[in-house]
Amino acid sequence: MKITIFGTGYVGLVTGACLADVGHEVLCMDVDPEKIDKLRNGIIPIYEPGLESIVNHNVSAGRLLFSTDTQEAVAHGEVQFIAVGTPPDEDGSADLQYVLAVARSIGQYMTGYKVVVDKSTVPVGTADKVAGALRAELDKRGEELDFDVVSNPEFLKEGAAVADFMKPDRIIVGTDSDKAEGILREVYYPFNRNHDRMIFMDVRSAELTKYAANAMLATKISFMNEVSNLAERLGADIESVRRGIGSDPRIGYHFIYPGCGYGGSCFPKDVTALSRTARDCDYEARLLNAVEAVNMAQKHVLFDKVSHYFGGDLEGKTIALWGLAFKPNTDDMREASSRVLMESLWKAGAKVQAYDPEAMKETQRIYGEEPGLQLCGTKEQALKGADALVICTEWKEFRLPDFEVISEALSHPVVFDGRNLYEPEMLERHGLIYYAIGRGRNQFSATGS
Ligand SMILES: NC(=O)c1ccc[n+]([C@@H]2O[C@H](COP(=O)([O-])OP(=O)(O)OC[C@H]3O[C@@H](n4cnc5c(N)ncnc54)[C@H](O)[C@@H]3O)[C@@H](O)[C@H]2O)c1
Repeated sequence: MKITIFGTGYVGLVTGACLADVGHEVLCMDVDPEKIDKLRNGIIPIYEPGLESIVNHNVSAGRLLFSTDTQEAVAHGEVQFIAVGTPPDEDGSADLQYVLAVARSIGQYMTGYKVVVDKSTVPVGTADKVAGALRAELDKRGEELDFDVVSNPEFLKEGAAVADFMKPDRIIVGTDSDKAEGILREVYYPFNRNHDRMIFMDVRSAELTKYAANAMLATKISFMNEVSNLAERLGADIESVRRGIGSDPRIGYHFIYPGCGYGGSCFPKDVTALSRTARDCDYEARLLNAVEAVNMAQKHVLFDKVSHYFGGDLEGKTIALWGLAFKPNTDDMREASSRVLMESLWKAGAKVQAYDPEAMKETQRIYGEEPGLQLCGTKEQALKGADALVICTEWKEFRLPDFEVISEALSHPVVFDGRNLYEPEMLERHGLIYYAIGRGRNQFSATGS
């Protein structure tokens, strides 16, 4: 099938590459000429495991094209995926300007039937707005062309996006059109061979399903973070509690890791946007608001622990920081907990020596001018001359470091671990003082006290 994807970010590029890989003819369109230029030259603008080879393979096979030309993009596919960003607006609601701009473009240039697929995460009611924007352009042209707008939210995880897309848990499609349903079945047929993963529903339910999924996952994290703060005050170990509750199949082990807060391009903005949607229909989403508030406070916990340890005086201190990306296996820094920590440390007069396996370029782009930041080529270099070590992202290479090297390099042998990577006894054996999240009374920090 001929398919067009608008937006070549984490979702658009993965979607385009994976659809091409199963045999579709895909054109990926982006308004960013630099991105398209890179992609045409075999350079992948983001880090996502497995993506480079799949893109280059399908470009060579002639099934994956890149363009900045809107008219060409609209002409290419009967199926038009919208996978552009939906960042938070000033009031926290999802900013639909990019989605609606694509809808208008499709209306301006289409010459026959199209299925327009909302893959971006968009609030309930957006499909109607997309249809309205598109129809307004057709009206201007005096055309009466047929089209359907379908909701097909994406559930891939950054860091495992290709694998998730290739083997999805479910493919949600919201539509009331039999014709569009048939076309979407054909688009996803190759991903459905083992068993039918497609769940069809009405458009509004599909739109809400995406927000509900992210809000549920964010709730699990904030719940565990709240209990971890309690554990610190009660002298309990959250890691024992985690194992204790995870063994209940009704709870399960997934997504109950305590830490220094969730970040990324989805959970924070989606929880806020859903809460905003609730307010718009005169409903106060108290649980969602609490999930967000707990998370915002949790992002300050590491700073509070560091500050508490140094008696509230961080002026002139140098903090080694391992992990900048909001989670492992990505270079994405959007809403990363490391950013809250670094900004607080700089404000308090401390310097940061940071290392991340993939997010250094992105950090340089965001904080390149910051005098208090030194980006280091290895995790060991980040330790040199530092007073303490803080870990913000659970990259594999941080899981079993040489503790002797850490304790020799730091002027204060202290590790603040925002992801509970280590057993406290292990670090104690190496003469390190260890502060993690929710692991007993000595872990107490000022936040929320
Ligand atoms: N990143 C994730 O893990 C993830 C997972 C599921 C859903 N989503 C949702 O998918 C959507 C896209 O997210 P992302 O992370 O891929 O965003 P992104 O910011 O990485 O990419 C968006 C791309 O769209 C392009 N764009 C903007 N306007 C355009 C236009 N008019 N025509 C063509 N391209 C245009 C931008 O230049 C950019 O390259 C969002 O709604 C997000 O919430 C993201």
